[in-house]
Amino acid sequence: MEKKNIDWENLGFGYIQTDKRYVSNYKDGKWDEGALTDDANITMNECAGVLQYAQTVFEGMKAYTTEDGRIVTFRPDLNAARMVDSAKRLEMPVFPEDRFVDAVVQTVKANAAYVPPYGSGATLYIRPYMFGINPVIGVKPADEYQFRVFTTPVGPYFKGGAKPITICVSDFDRAAPHGTGHIKAGLNYAMSLHAIVTAHANGFDENMYLDSATRTKVEETGGANFIFVTKDNKIVTPHSNTILPSITRRSIMYVAEHYLGLEVEERDVYFDEVKDFAECGLCGTAAVISPVGKVVDHGKEICFPSGMEKMGPVTQKLYDTLTGIQMGHIEAPEGWLKVIR
Ligand code: PLP
Ligand code: COI
Repeated sequence: MEKKNIDWENLGFGYIQTDKRYVSNYKDGKWDEGALTDDANITMNECAGVLQYAQTVFEGMKAYTTEDGRIVTFRPDLNAARMVDSAKRLEMPVFPEDRFVDAVVQTVKANAAYVPPYGSGATLYIRPYMFGINPVIGVKPADEYQFRVFTTPVGPYFKGGAKPITICVSDFDRAAPHGTGHIKAGLNYAMSLHAIVTAHANGFDENMYLDSATRTKVEETGGANFIFVTKDNKIVTPHSNTILPSITRRSIMYVAEHYLGLEVEERDVYFDEVKDFAECGLCGTAAVISPVGKVVDHGKEICFPSGMEKMGPVTQKLYDTLTGIQMGHIEAPEGWLKVIR
């Protein structure tokens, strides 16, 4: 299979249309058998549920080329399960978990020419999503849905790649107590757009959201969870019911404990203690582990000792181990890699 002629090393995080995508439709209470299609466009009624009341949920995953030339994806069963949680919370039908994984495998296989080569620094981003498609005008769930998976080759989420970023404490809230912060619904991202545009206009790369009830605890950013490293090398991550349960973060905590022998803690993290950490990173499928060099709280700067030039040493070890597992040169825990071909 010949790879596409793409400048893999210089890819950013953007959309490049690939050849095939998977589509399945839900009607009369059941999903059809689903199929791959060439058509990247969707035709729907002007009153479709997704257009009027934002009834849409999604996932984010990646396919990697390993050192020995296989194409793999990382823990897709967890994305399938999270999409079930998201769908239930928005009163959508569940797309069966085994079919989710199969749809991802089919779509990646069909776009194998777009999976970036090993060592290029790029990956194939996979976007499964589901939305209400029939006309809905009274506020209620749709009756018909479409589930789709498309792929796009991507480079680093933050422009500088592994260079530390600067983030600001947001004046806006991301998620309400008892709201939808813990699921991957498009609505959470729609309401973060003003906050991210504002952060960028003020010269910051991302927002740090605090808990909206007390504004004393660290939650997450618009697209990633936090990990912190204490001065005595403990890995700390915020516990909260209003953040997305990141698969990357759960994997990092496991790797820290079982591969690197580090102590790990998932607990309330008060903003007041952020100044005492040695290192800080954002973790997610898109972000991988992106180091944070500085947090700015309304003009007051917190500069981590790891600095603005490179990741801190513990973050680097976590990054090397996690990506080593994903790229197949460090042995993965049982069931973490799904071989696609
Ligand atoms: N938090 C938010 C708000 C996200 O959008 C994402 C991205 O999926 C994450 C965290 C990281 O989750 P994961 O590691 O499962 O990609
Ligand atoms: C992901 O990491 O997959 C996400 O969905 C986050 C988004 C900011 C791109």
